[in-house]
Amino acid sequence: MSRKFDVAVVGATGAVGEVMLSVLAQRGFPIGSLYPLASQRSAGSHISFDGKTHEVGDLAEFDFSKAQIGLFSAGGSVSAEYAPKAAAAGCVVVDNTSHFRNDADIPLVVPEVNPHAVAGYTSRGIIANPNCSTIQMVVALKPILDAVGIERINVATYQAVSGTGKKAIDELKEQSAQLLDGQAPACSVYPKQIAFNALPHIDVFMENGYTREEMKMVWETRKILEDSAIQVNPTAVRVPVFYGHSEAIHLETRDKITEVAARDLLSKAPGVVVLDERRDGGYATAATEGAGEDDVFVSRIREDISHPRGLDMWVVSDNVRKGAALNSVQIAEILIQKYL
Ligand code: A2P
Repeated sequence: MSRKFDVAVVGATGAVGEVMLSVLAQRGFPIGSLYPLASQRSAGSHISFDGKTHEVGDLAEFDFSKAQIGLFSAGGSVSAEYAPKAAAAGCVVVDNTSHFRNDADIPLVVPEVNPHAVAGYTSRGIIANPNCSTIQMVVALKPILDAVGIERINVATYQAVSGTGKKAIDELKEQSAQLLDGQAPACSVYPKQIAFNALPHIDVFMENGYTREEMKMVWETRKILEDSAIQVNPTAVRVPVFYGHSEAIHLETRDKITEVAARDLLSKAPGVVVLDERRDGGYATAATEGAGEDDVFVSRIREDISHPRGLDMWVVSDNVRKGAALNSVQIAEILIQKYL
């Protein structure tokens, strides 16, 4: 009989937690006991998993010695408090928040890019799942980096509201209905109208004028690609899309790479689908290709006419799946296959 693992899902009632449960079921993760956990607000409610109903437990009351793996997606402050407690009880944590990502002794892993880093889980019993925008970017850039090196990345993101959580999904729906009905939009999650708009603001503003979301892309890209010399210049924008982030990426590579060579490398890269036909609709978009899928889609591959070693591309992926839930489950799969 193959081994099974007892798994706690922290934030099981949230936008990412719900997808985590469906990804675990879809991929046939070998689960013995499942412990869906949330705050006291949702404790006692029920979720369905793999055809069975499970009661949601209160995180504050949970005994983590009962679980071997904990998938955390309930916010940074929750992870700050409970991930170390879980790890101390012998439960290896895959943490989807930004809380531990920059700690030198915490691995930050994208399975297609740096799976070997999982081994570092032994120092603190915690592995960090990167930021959604970083994940899809590094999956697409890894083959280029390996072939010709990357000096600089200019990137503008177009990020879906699901990255902010369920309340933001509701806000986009409600504001869209209000505006179509001729009413003023009510703003509570975002500081300005998100429906029919674009906000150049994700996470808090930092001293240097960048937002924290933008700086996450700088710090995390260097850590995952294990190259502290890579320059990253992001602008992160929230757009009125429910699921799927898009990114316009402009690279300056160390050595010249032709568009033909880049397309060839990307079409062989794990987790990447190249959808790049130079005709109307011959490209991926968040709503039509990204949402609900596992892959990172790459379109609009072209040599930059303004730079001798420039390469441009458009990268789309489901931020809640590859950007969060799926990536965490893939990390857990490496853990059980190689380490636990
Ligand atoms: P709850 O349903 O009890 O609020 P989202 O990102 O969609 O907003 O979801 C956040 C997830 O994190 C939900 O499952 C939410 O549970 C959970 N959560 C938020 N705060 C806490 C907390 N203090 N303790 C445990 N779970 C929490």
